[in-house]
Amino acid sequence: VSPAHDSDPAAEQLLSLRDYEHAAARVLDPAALAYFAGGAGDELSLHQNVAAWQRLALRPRVLAGVERRDPGVTLLGTRRPHPLIVAPMAFQALAHPDGERATARGAHGTGTVVSLATLGSTSIPELAQAVPEATRWFQVYVFKDRGVTRELIAQAGEHGYEALVVTVDLPVVGRRERELRTPSSAHADAIPGGRAAGAEGALTPMQFAALVDPALRWSDIERLVADQPLPVIVKGVLRSEDARLAADHGARGVVVSNHGARQLDTTLTGAEALAPIVDTAGDRLDVIVDGGIRRGTDVLKALALGARAVMVGRPLLWGLALDGASGVQRVLEILLTELDVALALTGAPDPAQLDRSFVSPAAWVTEPR
Ligand SMILES: Cc1cc2nc3c(=O)[nH]c(=O)nc-3n(C[C@H](O)[C@H](O)[C@H](O)COP(=O)(O)O)c2cc1C
Repeated sequence: VSPAHDSDPAAEQLLSLRDYEHAAARVLDPAALAYFAGGAGDELSLHQNVAAWQRLALRPRVLAGVERRDPGVTLLGTRRPHPLIVAPMAFQALAHPDGERATARGAHGTGTVVSLATLGSTSIPELAQAVPEATRWFQVYVFKDRGVTRELIAQAGEHGYEALVVTVDLPVVGRRERELRTPSSAHADAIPGGRAAGAEGALTPMQFAALVDPALRWSDIERLVADQPLPVIVKGVLRSEDARLAADHGARGVVVSNHGARQLDTTLTGAEALAPIVDTAGDRLDVIVDGGIRRGTDVLKALALGARAVMVGRPLLWGLALDGASGVQRVLEILLTELDVALALTGAPDPAQLDRSFVSPAAWVTEPR
């Protein structure tokens, strides 16, 4: 935990990710806030993404000898210091002028993998040059212009990105009413991937996303795996059948995700979809989960259900908006501190000790505050 930052009185009261959320809502421009915070439709899944983790009760072991704890996990065959990953999120310049560069710096400060979005406000080489030492993944939207996508993937390989996260739950853009009511826009020149795909002038995020090809199929995933050397992770899977297909077509991992509830409302949450997917394909794929991870206990529950790692989304944008790279780092440190306490207090000093016996459906149900 960063002592330098703890001495900042303004930041001192920001103890939880929820504190960051509330504080960021006060400083962000309304259009940026609508883009970051909103979900699709009635935002029922947005609410459930958080509530689904809360519905799981922990079943701690006692007297388990927890004096030495290590949150490390193995991901894509590599040892990582902990299971957190920064989710790919587009348009981070709407939160902070340094955008993805600040996010990657904050992530690197805690040894966290950072994902750069195709529709990021920083290009693949710019991010690599700014934070060469960070472990970087590249999130792929396959554009209608496949040549552009091939070019971006080649760039990611050349610039030391270590995996491709291919997002498959956005053949079209979800109906996000907060965004429709309070639109934000970015100039095509400010979104290098969108510019490359032919965007011109000022576009809303939903207009940029319309560049994505709705004709994408499993055979395209197989080709992508075959055509380039980076491991492919398919992001946006909620059914076991699709996880099996991902493995059959050569993916190394899946992200069990409803895209932060931004695409189709009333879907399953990642938390709900996770266990059956681990049972079906967990021996062939690294299963990652996201959506509504807001506490160290949420991370622990994901690991207990069989996830290897979790992606964290919006809370990092709140840290970014409030305090750039330090804000991102601080949000990750809070989660890591909470995870450490949770490992100790559940009697599982490292993730390998966790299994489903550590969680059960809660007898009580809370509403997210
Ligand atoms: C503002 C914003 C932009 C996002 N942009 C992308 C994107 O470009 N590509 C993608 O695969 N997912 C994108 N996502 C989804 C995240 O990667 C992730 O699945 C989701 O945010 C996790 O849920 P959480 O925000 O509740 O942690 C975005 C999410 C947000 C909040």
